[in-house]
Amino acid sequence: MSSSEKTAFITGAGSGIGEAAALAFASSGVAVAVGDLDIVNAEKVATKITCSGGLAKAFAIDVSCPQSVESAFESAESWYGVNTSILVNSAGIMGVHEFLGYPAELFSKVMAVNVTGAFLCAQRASRNMAKAGVGRIINIASVSAERAGIGRAAYGTSKAALVGLTRQMAMELGPLGITSNAVAPGPVITPLTQASYNAATIDAYESMIPARRLGLLNEITSAIIYLASDDAAYINGVFLPVDGGYLAGGVAKTGKLS
Ligand SMILES: NC(=O)c1ccc[n+]([C@@H]2O[C@H](COP(=O)([O-])OP(=O)(O)OC[C@H]3O[C@@H](n4cnc5c(N)ncnc54)[C@H](O)[C@@H]3O)[C@@H](O)[C@H]2O)c1
Repeated sequence: MSSSEKTAFITGAGSGIGEAAALAFASSGVAVAVGDLDIVNAEKVATKITCSGGLAKAFAIDVSCPQSVESAFESAESWYGVNTSILVNSAGIMGVHEFLGYPAELFSKVMAVNVTGAFLCAQRASRNMAKAGVGRIINIASVSAERAGIGRAAYGTSKAALVGLTRQMAMELGPLGITSNAVAPGPVITPLTQASYNAATIDAYESMIPARRLGLLNEITSAIIYLASDDAAYINGVFLPVDGGYLAGGVAKTGKLS
């Protein structure tokens, strides 16, 4: 399938990694459904794309609500006139809070957006991908799926669950021609992280990441674009860290060698 025949529904595309992915897909000729809870931001991203000659339209979606997911996908598919061929589940929230007082409602909300949301969108998109016999699903997980962090009882748990979901989908959707993979970004500056990082957080990350810097948005989107490409047809069920080596490491300073 050539890029100009492809369609991508990207959740959380009004900001950060989802926005960067929307811009990257559009610049390669893919028609992009810019899905976000924040329709104002989604409209801004869609306008940015159309003003530079790409094909995009904003769709309001609350990924945690089955009715909203159905209506957004139905509208997107009638806009591009065909099925969704690529789904990027980037919508996500952090809900940072200390464990002993972690509110149960906040825990449920983070799971509803980060896990159930990805499940609902993947299930909706893959029903039509299955009819076409081809599809690509990329879930935006996190290094937090494997490394715990203070205040991340829900976030880290949700990202580990999302990796589990990716593998479940790979088993059941693989025979239908659909690949499901998880990209796990290390820290990248976006509105999500800006809200919870301070200078000390960034210093701590830089000392633990072998590349000695945070990631860049285009470094995350390169992995997403690759996993969505025809070249990645045989890659299914992987957890791909894009983290400058963060997950490979342990103690960063080892005495005389550091
Ligand atoms: N930025 C990082 O360092 C980093 C690292 C690892 C993983 N991630 C993951 O990448 C994804 C994108 O993060 P980001 O940094 O771009 O964050 P961001 O806050 O910039 O963007 C997230 C977007 O998701 C949208 N959203 C939130 N709840 C939604 C809902 N219920 N339905 C639809 N849209 C909803 C928000 O409106 C927002 O536009 C998230 O899943 C996040 O966990 C980010």
